[in-house]
Amino acid sequence: FHVPTPINEPVKTYAPNSPERKAVQEAYKAMWNSQIEVPLYIGSEEIKTGTTKNLTSPHDHKHVVGTYHLAEKAHVEKAISSALEARKKWAALHWEQRAAIFLKAAELIAGPYRAKINAATMIGQSKNIHQAEIDSACELIDFLRFNVAFMTQIYNDQPKSDATMWNRVEYRPLEGFVYAVTPFNFTAIAGNLPASAALMGNVVVWKPSFSQIYSAKVIIDVFKEAGVPAGVINVVLGDAKMITDTLLDSPDFAGIHFTGSTGVFRDIWTKIGANIGIYKTYPRIVGETGGKDFIVAHPSANPKQVATGIVRGAFEFQGQKCSAASRAYIPQSIWNTVKEQVIADVKSFKMGSPEDFGNFVTAVIHEGSFDKLARFIDQAKKDTDAEIIVGGNYDKSVGYFIEPTVIVTSNPHYITMKEELFGPVMTIFVYEDAKWNETLHLVDETSEYALTGAIFSQDRYAIQEATTVLENAAGNFYINDKPTGAIVGMQPFGGARGSGTNDKAGSALNLMRWVSARTIKETF
Ligand code: ALA
Repeated sequence: FHVPTPINEPVKTYAPNSPERKAVQEAYKAMWNSQIEVPLYIGSEEIKTGTTKNLTSPHDHKHVVGTYHLAEKAHVEKAISSALEARKKWAALHWEQRAAIFLKAAELIAGPYRAKINAATMIGQSKNIHQAEIDSACELIDFLRFNVAFMTQIYNDQPKSDATMWNRVEYRPLEGFVYAVTPFNFTAIAGNLPASAALMGNVVVWKPSFSQIYSAKVIIDVFKEAGVPAGVINVVLGDAKMITDTLLDSPDFAGIHFTGSTGVFRDIWTKIGANIGIYKTYPRIVGETGGKDFIVAHPSANPKQVATGIVRGAFEFQGQKCSAASRAYIPQSIWNTVKEQVIADVKSFKMGSPEDFGNFVTAVIHEGSFDKLARFIDQAKKDTDAEIIVGGNYDKSVGYFIEPTVIVTSNPHYITMKEELFGPVMTIFVYEDAKWNETLHLVDETSEYALTGAIFSQDRYAIQEATTVLENAAGNFYINDKPTGAIVGMQPFGGARGSGTNDKAGSALNLMRWVSARTIKETF
């Protein structure tokens, strides 16, 4: 099977006076000054239920940019029947036709929809232009292109045959529908979770996050224009528990593709377990959940590299990445140099609306997130075993702005060394150089999550030691680099423990979960 060789979409720079800068500025302005209305997408219908909520922007929460309609139980049930109806033709469509649809979607985003999807991500999720470009343009394009190549790896995997006996394996879609639950923090993940299941011939009911609806709408438009047939990807918005319960109570529920919190995923798993007798087939459960991602430096580490790893790993994307570094362990001997550079770098950041391309840090996603972060910052201001060395201010009068904040603690079990905060707050513990091995064990023992982690060292023995001790502490392990920024086709992404089922996004491993194989033996 041959498909176009996938290439990673080059990241545009948005330099002053560049055409791409002009295009995204124009798109931003036009979208900021207009109102969108997002219906439910069920089968071939766009349903306006009349029960609506406002769409606002995190960096200007009084500014309404549109509304979205909320589903009732009957709409969710209709989404199931529409999906199952569409499955009759979709599951029988040759894989080449499905691949062509999603390759076309990639090219639509790379070209005519690029400015729009980036502007939607800037407005709806408060990403700066560079973050929007990396996420909603490049990474989403990469997922769509590379998944087509990964798909052929699966279909090409065939057993041995001989002259009298022809064996083959058909990689069939799951029997039923797949439920896609997507997060606010990555437009790319929001697009990839429904698309990857659909690419393998499945029909999907997709529930985007309330905080990602603006860019989800662009994805829906792209999929439609690319030729995804009605009913293949149905979109429902509304009460999360009602939607989830309705879908999981269906005998045709065949799998869930989830990115979100550990708590919600565990509840879903529990519910699936309780319902197991009603399903026609054992559902596939694929989830990427929380993280408390670490940086550990060895005394041999280059302090400049460590400081850059901390600053970029913790504060890019406002720290709202499941992969973001949020705790660091630095040896005493290099601490002063690391500290000076971290403080200088953080002080150089400009914070504000993404409309101003000079702003590096923008708002966090919503008031709940803002309040949680502010609470932990206030606590650190009071606690005797914590000290804020830079940042610590916050303001929600216009948007949900939290200053990038570094807490240093003398207690390796301090609350912010353990709790997932999902924002621009980094906590650092300084250890005695002689306690390197002890520190590695401490990191492993305190890793309830195991998504990403980074170690910094110029000593190969220390690198090997860390790689071994921390073998289960991070599904994506970085040596001398920040623990973020996995690229499709280069670093398949996902973690275990409390971080998920580790079915690496951006690899054939993930797509394998969306097929149910039939082995055929034919004799002559
Ligand atoms: N794939 C994203 C990263 O690695 C989450 O940062």
